Amino acid sequence: MQNNDMRLYVDDRPDDGVFRVHPALFASEELFELEQKFVFGRTWNFLAIDSQLPKPNDFLSTWIGKTPVLVTRDAKNKVNAFLNACRHKGASVTRTEKGNSRYHVCPYHGWAYDATGKNVDIKDRKAGCYSENFEKDSHDLVPLAKVESYKGLIFGSLSPDVPPLEEFLGEFRFFLDLALEQGPNGMEFVPGRALYTYDANWKLQMDNGLDMYHLTSTHTSFMDVQEKRRAGMGNQDAQQFDWQKRFSQEGGMFQFKHGHSAIWLNQAEVSKRPVYPSIGEIRARVGDLRADWMLKMRNTVVFPNMQIADATSLLLRTFRPLAVNRTEMRVYCLAPIGEPLAQRAHRLRQFEDFFNPAGFATPDDTVTYEDCQRGLGSPAFPLLQGYSRGMTSTVPGGNHVSDGFGIKPVASLIGPFDVQAETVFHPGYREWARLMQTGVEGRKPYVEQK
Ligand code: FES
Ligand SMILES: [Fe+2]
Repeated sequence: MQNNDMRLYVDDRPDDGVFRVHPALFASEELFELEQKFVFGRTWNFLAIDSQLPKPNDFLSTWIGKTPVLVTRDAKNKVNAFLNACRHKGASVTRTEKGNSRYHVCPYHGWAYDATGKNVDIKDRKAGCYSENFEKDSHDLVPLAKVESYKGLIFGSLSPDVPPLEEFLGEFRFFLDLALEQGPNGMEFVPGRALYTYDANWKLQMDNGLDMYHLTSTHTSFMDVQEKRRAGMGNQDAQQFDWQKRFSQEGGMFQFKHGHSAIWLNQAEVSKRPVYPSIGEIRARVGDLRADWMLKMRNTVVFPNMQIADATSLLLRTFRPLAVNRTEMRVYCLAPIGEPLAQRAHRLRQFEDFFNPAGFATPDDTVTYEDCQRGLGSPAFPLLQGYSRGMTSTVPGGNHVSDGFGIKPVASLIGPFDVQAETVFHPGYREWARLMQTGVEGRKPYVEQK
């Protein structure tokens, strides 16, 4: 790493029509370690959805960057989150991904904790000849500095210096609501999840979730298969989209504060959308405007590492940085609680067709990320040029669409599908540079924004 001025790594000069990103963001181990501290360690991170922990003593284990996290619902129904690290010597107090247990007994030396994180037993304590000072110390699990929920999405922060969650999500909440209000009883993950890794940096997924530009080159085999299926050949369980109809639609993007962003596209074939059979109920509950927007394609990024995509079906995915060149993906099918079974089955067929690790999109994308990583890892690679589409049609503030929602994004674009704007990636890199810069300068990350 040559320089401590993080802004040099993101060449952000919109007035000059320039937005370029340094390949070190994808390939430098030094920057990767700083990200752990200053990005993942100092902002809100998605942990879980409420319905993963429906009952007292339900728990799950997850991660904030490289930090293992235990999320519990205690006997009083309060959701808590702790470091999944025993106070004795740091071992994970649970190795399971999820379950229900009143107590978590550390597998190493048997210290035990309850769902509130309280240490309830130190094995063979009486015989342990512990000092008075040791006895006076708290042995409880270390709680995360902050845990808050928004409409069932539970977020945590390792740092206390974050704005309230609603302020962090800001105006972007409109897009979250479009996903979270699809069911009259809330939303849940369909049981199970896809988990896989790829050998490339986490930001390649951050970008790809909003990348319309790659569809017609990376996913041509999927489009070809869909065309054949529309002609009656092969698997008919999932809906077959007419991509040409999709590509003739108008769409756009919104940039929001704190690194969040969204793309959207009008849909020609709304009857093929998973929520379509419920649209009458949805209209009555959330109104025409929101219902119509639930039928549009919308892909969103909640900075730093969560995406909700409502494209062929509705999914939520996280991408966890394992190393500068290795990322773990968890992908969940998001669905209304209590959805009729036939609709649920259809939703799953849609989900697995395109998004599953063995689906038509994921392998195409992940092998491509690995190609990118090889290119970006070369010391001869200059600044990336992949952030420039849509520069001249991106305007500060909102447009008539966001005015209709009553929200004020940072910047917006509206236009035909073929713009396939890359300006939608800018908020993530701006926020990355801002958090990293305040970090290396020893400043608090959010103070100046209050
Ligand atoms: S590390 Fe947990 S009991 Fe020793
Ligand atoms: Fe893709």
